[in-house]
Amino acid sequence: MAGCFWLVTSIGFVGFILGLILNHFLPLFSNLGPLPKGSFGWPLLGETLSFLKPHPSNSVGAYLHDHCSRYGKVFKTHLFFSPTVVSCDQELNYFILQNEDKLFQCSYPKPIHGILGEVSMLVAVGDTHRRLRNVALSLVATIKSKPEFLGDIERIAVEILDSWKGRQQVMFCAEARKFTFNVIVKQVLGLTPEEPQTTKILEDFLTFMKGLISLPLNVPGTPYARAVKARRRISSTVKAIIEERRRSRRSSDGGGKYPNKRSTRSGTNGHDFLEILLGVESLSEDEKVSFVLDSLLGGYETTSVLMAMLIHFVGQSPAALAQLKLEHRTIRSMKGEDELLNWEDYKKMDFTQNVITEALRYGNVVKFVHRKALKDIKFRDYLIPCGWKVLPVLSAVHLDPSLHSDALQFHPWRWETQDQTCKKFTPFGGGSRCCPGSELAKVEVAFFLHHLVQKFR
Ligand code: HEM
Repeated sequence: MAGCFWLVTSIGFVGFILGLILNHFLPLFSNLGPLPKGSFGWPLLGETLSFLKPHPSNSVGAYLHDHCSRYGKVFKTHLFFSPTVVSCDQELNYFILQNEDKLFQCSYPKPIHGILGEVSMLVAVGDTHRRLRNVALSLVATIKSKPEFLGDIERIAVEILDSWKGRQQVMFCAEARKFTFNVIVKQVLGLTPEEPQTTKILEDFLTFMKGLISLPLNVPGTPYARAVKARRRISSTVKAIIEERRRSRRSSDGGGKYPNKRSTRSGTNGHDFLEILLGVESLSEDEKVSFVLDSLLGGYETTSVLMAMLIHFVGQSPAALAQLKLEHRTIRSMKGEDELLNWEDYKKMDFTQNVITEALRYGNVVKFVHRKALKDIKFRDYLIPCGWKVLPVLSAVHLDPSLHSDALQFHPWRWETQDQTCKKFTPFGGGSRCCPGSELAKVEVAFFLHHLVQKFR
């Protein structure tokens, strides 16, 4: 029995090694050119652990620093169980992002699909992705045009800041999370923080987030298994909210507007994502639920991390803080007491925009995105083989001293003369998967800052 086991194991191991060799070295002889330089590291794991080793996000980290100096800005390795080409090169990153679905395709690790579900926009590809994305873009445009959109964000910011009065100390990261969660839950589901469903969603959502960054072991008790269950619970909560909305729509005779029970209670009056989503016929029920989850996921952690980093950087730059205060004091002086901010005020926040842009460049909320090559691709002299994982590292371009002067300094003034829509600045990704929530994130941060710098030192 034991002999049999060893025989099978040995054959499996030899097969695995042969597979690795074929996978890695055959493309060396392709007529499209040689593979980029690099090393594959350990079997199976490759160099994943070194690649993921934590480091300050305003540095590229030891792994990339070492590999780029040894092999150049584009190198091959083995990450997330797959042979991979890592790109820290501005041109190649741009080329990858612009060629989604043609030469490259979004390809997040399988366990992430297990948690997000196959109809999540974050993992969907091809026609399904295009259909979901079109809905997302029109939803964002509709929501932004509603007058309540800005008012809700500002009211939530003021509520959070008011809750700090009399407190000796606040943990900013936690407060930023509370703020972005309350904003996104309000924008998407029309729920206020006091409603029991908000607390329930938050609890499940935190479990869900923990699972996303855990070992993908679907065994009872593991964070991964708990996340899969939490997703199911969020899904039923959202479905119940959808049902309740439908019921109150039916019982109201408001025609196009739906002054239902929930919206009156939470002050929504039908201007959240869900209200519009309910009328979208091109999405199935599961896609609608998934859509809500994607928005919560996309809008929560990213924006709160950006806020926390921005505060950290501004805290170390008295000149930036002074200029921010002046800008917001000037805007406030032109408004009545307690008058809410509007789009014109937002457009006047030039320096604030530069601070946010610089925090995105220097802080790198999203370090890299996952893609795979759909065919053999020749880029410059080398080959990117079909089926390989391709990782455009956005942070490496943001921190590249040959592209940004004093790249390792927080210097918001650089954006006074630089275009923010250039190839060397892609904090929200690019091409057909560019973040649909970028404007929402920036408005949230700007409005929070408006009150923060005026109320607190
Ligand atoms: C500082 C804040 C944010 C950053 C840095 C950020 C960054 C990104 C990046 C880099 C991508 C591209 C992923 C890829 O190419 O694979 C992305 C996609 C996405 N983001 Fe954001 N995001 C932010 C805020 C938001 C907000 C507020 C929302 C929701 C309201 C959101 C929803 C999404 C969605 C749904 C996608 C998938 C788009 C697609 O695949 O077509 N994000 N985000």
